[in-house]
Amino acid sequence: MSHFFFFQDIGSLNMKDKLEALLGEALSELGAASTEEGLQELRVKYLGKKGALTGIMKGLGSLSAEERPLVGQVVNTVKGKLEEAFDSRAVEIRESVKAARLSAERIDVTLPGRRRAVGSKHPITLVTEEICAIFAALGFAVAEGPEVEHDFYNFEALNFPKDHPARDMQDTFFVGENVLLRTHTSPVQVRTMLKQPPPVRIIAPGTVYRCDSDATHSPMFHQIEGLMVDKGITFGDLKGILTLFISQLFGSDIGVRLRPSFFPFTEPSAEVDIACVICRGKGCRVCKETGWLEILGAGMVDPEVYRHVGYDAELYTGFAFGMGIERIAMLKYGIADMRLLFENDLRFLKQF
Ligand code: PHE
Repeated sequence: MSHFFFFQDIGSLNMKDKLEALLGEALSELGAASTEEGLQELRVKYLGKKGALTGIMKGLGSLSAEERPLVGQVVNTVKGKLEEAFDSRAVEIRESVKAARLSAERIDVTLPGRRRAVGSKHPITLVTEEICAIFAALGFAVAEGPEVEHDFYNFEALNFPKDHPARDMQDTFFVGENVLLRTHTSPVQVRTMLKQPPPVRIIAPGTVYRCDSDATHSPMFHQIEGLMVDKGITFGDLKGILTLFISQLFGSDIGVRLRPSFFPFTEPSAEVDIACVICRGKGCRVCKETGWLEILGAGMVDPEVYRHVGYDAELYTGFAFGMGIERIAMLKYGIADMRLLFENDLRFLKQF
């Protein structure tokens, strides 16, 4: 049925009943609407410019003069009731949507918070920082050099002549002709002395490489080099500074001894041992029943090295030393296998 016929009917039928029916229908649809969009559609359907009620109001003109105010009054009442019903339903819907959202998004404030994993420093970093801090307090500056190194700095200037058997001790990784992965941090001594005149007081931490791998050797490991050159530096200074360093790192009661040794770039040379930190000198598996653990190589800088860097060996003397950081970390923290330091197992790393 078209709107045309619908409005034509109004005048002849009972308009009041029609309006009541319209109100009833609208109210029941309204009660079923559950979203704000649905409600808006109904508002348009009944109260909009082309809506049912507006249509009826347009039809008022065709009524007789007596009928018009009566029906008009009913229309106004119906319109008022509808508007009120729409407004209160809108509030209800908004409230129930809000309640649903609140219960869906409920936050349980008693739940434990999400933990943010906090990283920690690697034991090698910890030991490196500790050693550098001890020497910094003694006036040593930190120096660095490249890991890919020339034969000249790694060997030649350190008095390892070509074909010298001491080169075999170092199991070198060669990168090219006369280019290699540095086998120790001693080339930083050479680079530092070539850059600056004496006095020199440096500490040089860094990564070094040797073709060697087992429970106590890794092809990549870390060393700290030290160098002190000035007028009048003696073997007594070497012994005094290294003893002080060891007592700060391992405790003042730890035994220290120096044994004669050989390095091409120091003369005389020594190896420095500390009393075994596991058995305190009684003898155990870690110290191979000797009671001592070797932790440092050291010696007075060989005049031949000064010749390569242009220092006057008649005027200046000094000492150098080098140590493996992994070994010190293993002794300090009681780590039995060096490979643990490089596997990055969090269960291991979290202990430091
Ligand atoms: N560079 C030596 C090594 O790696 C250690 C060392 C450094 C010895 C300085 C004496 C002086 O074995």
